Amino acid sequence: MISIIVPTYKEVANLQPLSEMIRDALQTREYEILIMDDNSQDGSIEKVAALSSTHPIRIVTRTEDRGLSPAVIDGFDNAQGDYVVVMDADLSHPASAIPQMIERLSSGESDFVLGSRYVPGGSIDESWSLWRYINSAVATLPALPLARVKDPMSGFFAVRKADIPPRGMLSPIGYKIALEVMVKGEFKNISEVPIHFVDRIHGESKLTLAEQLKYLRHLRRLYQYRFKTKAEFFQFALVGSSGFIVDLAVYLLLQVFGVSHTVARAISFWPAATWNWMLNRLVTFNHREKTRKTTQWSAFVSSSLLGFAVNYGTYYVLTTYVPFFQEQMVLALIIGVLMGMGFNFTLSNLFIFRKLREEVDSNGKA
Ligand code: GDD
Ligand code: MN
Repeated sequence: MISIIVPTYKEVANLQPLSEMIRDALQTREYEILIMDDNSQDGSIEKVAALSSTHPIRIVTRTEDRGLSPAVIDGFDNAQGDYVVVMDADLSHPASAIPQMIERLSSGESDFVLGSRYVPGGSIDESWSLWRYINSAVATLPALPLARVKDPMSGFFAVRKADIPPRGMLSPIGYKIALEVMVKGEFKNISEVPIHFVDRIHGESKLTLAEQLKYLRHLRRLYQYRFKTKAEFFQFALVGSSGFIVDLAVYLLLQVFGVSHTVARAISFWPAATWNWMLNRLVTFNHREKTRKTTQWSAFVSSSLLGFAVNYGTYYVLTTYVPFFQEQMVLALIIGVLMGMGFNFTLSNLFIFRKLREEVDSNGKA
């Protein structure tokens, strides 16, 4: 059996056309439609009751933990089928793609199938403005390293029920439940079926700016999950680069006010190191223990000073003792910077931003 999970909020006008579209597509196959409704109070309950005499449809009214993704996760628990399809209620997702999606699962060709706007044959509504298109493309880019698909933002997907990661593993923030399941499920064969995405006619989109900001937090969490220390190192390096700009700006500014260059150099280190510490506390290691600020700041600044010694020492040793680097001094400089940063990162990661118990535990399990 196929369970079609449809998260809804105030979609009463779409329930009948949705049920009919699904029936036309699935015909004699065995299926159920699960309306996961966040207590819309718009007559959806009565509408589903009326439809249920002619369609295999039921409604689950949710009153806690509102949201599209939690509604879908509750739907996973309620689904009776061996196959689960998730789609929007607003007729954006063509049910006609479902048989092909299920076929790929049952043949073993794929273990996760996405309805995709961006594979050959797929398309978006003609009414999409250039702005909306650019917005969608920009949002898609940072998700690509997480899931090697063309349309990681799609909300239309099919998966075998047995392959869905357990509830405890799923912690989406915002709308992107498909991306969450794809990353946590570690599927081997993900494929995409082209769809024509139709804009909604009835009701309004609930995708607000607040949802888009949640998407950024969700992405960060998924990067952390997938790339672990590599993701932290990457953020640490980005923070370090931004700190270099602070360093340079203060160094130049002080000289404008008549401070000598050597004194300016000695001073500019402090705001830069403080900047780095703050951003690493708020962003890179924001999931770590919130150690007392003064203690942590002192530790971080000391580590930065030592890191600079490693950086300079590497440069000095290479250019003094290795003839190759006497020709390639910029290369020696770069290696010094990397060594210093690696040193700093190691100290920060192990001692300055200490892991919380849960993280230690979950690493132990993985
Ligand atoms: N239960 C529940 N709770 N359902 C919700 C909620 C909520 O808080 N918010 C939205 N939904 C339901 C809507 O009723 C609809 O069935 C579906 O989730 C999608 O919501 P829309 O408001 O139509 O979203 P959209 O069209 O902006 O976004 C869709 O397309 C995006 C790609 O352009 C979704 O499919 C996204 O997941 C997708 O990324
Ligand atoms: Mn929609």
